[in-house]
Amino acid sequence: MAILAPSLLSADFSDLAGQIRTVQAGGAGYIHMDVMDGTFVPNITFGPPVIRSLAEKTELPLDVHLMIQRPELLLAEFVTPRTEFIVVHQEACQHLHRTIQQIKALGVKAGVALNPATSLSTLDYILKDLDLVLVMSVNPGFGGQKFIPATWDKLKRLNEMRKERHPALLIQLDGGVNLENAVRLKEAGVDILVAGAAVFGAPDVTQRVKDFVALLAE
Ligand code: DX5
Ligand code: ZN
Repeated sequence: MAILAPSLLSADFSDLAGQIRTVQAGGAGYIHMDVMDGTFVPNITFGPPVIRSLAEKTELPLDVHLMIQRPELLLAEFVTPRTEFIVVHQEACQHLHRTIQQIKALGVKAGVALNPATSLSTLDYILKDLDLVLVMSVNPGFGGQKFIPATWDKLKRLNEMRKERHPALLIQLDGGVNLENAVRLKEAGVDILVAGAAVFGAPDVTQRVKDFVALLAE
């Protein structure tokens, strides 16, 4: 079984609390929060004040995806009673090992995201310290992009690494997820599927989440 984490990036930003209720009603497992700084990625979304306010409006755990340079300067700002994961990009950290230890010291689970062009080998010496690896299946910055096919091979290799070296590791995937590829992704070992456009672009968002949850439960 795999879990759906709807990404707020494609939600109605004028009613984020309402949008969270809508996906919660469908059985979403996490709320995926995409934080963008306009430097690491060519887009800007929201930051700690918005996340802290929304944390008061939901019982769902939050999965915070930091697409920002030097995330180590701001980590504590993203810790709320609902924050379960803080995920930083390998490409945005000068001292990845230190940053991961800092996240853990805050009492939060730590994840590393890899851009499509970044090799899994960059995690060789840190894999065992991680709770989660986020495989980006699009170049980060925007919702509604097409899934990059080379991701399938990356997932296969990451699964092998997990099996050999860190069975408790969670694999998360983000970008271009839809009802057509969800089951194959689950079968490829993904534990947490992030979906933005495929969830919030649906005519009935709660029903769309239920459709995903049914597929992922099988
Ligand atoms: C992209 C973000 C994703 C995004 C995914 O940079 O990290 O979380 O919302 O959007 P979809 O599911 O529309 O590809
Ligand atoms: Zn994301």
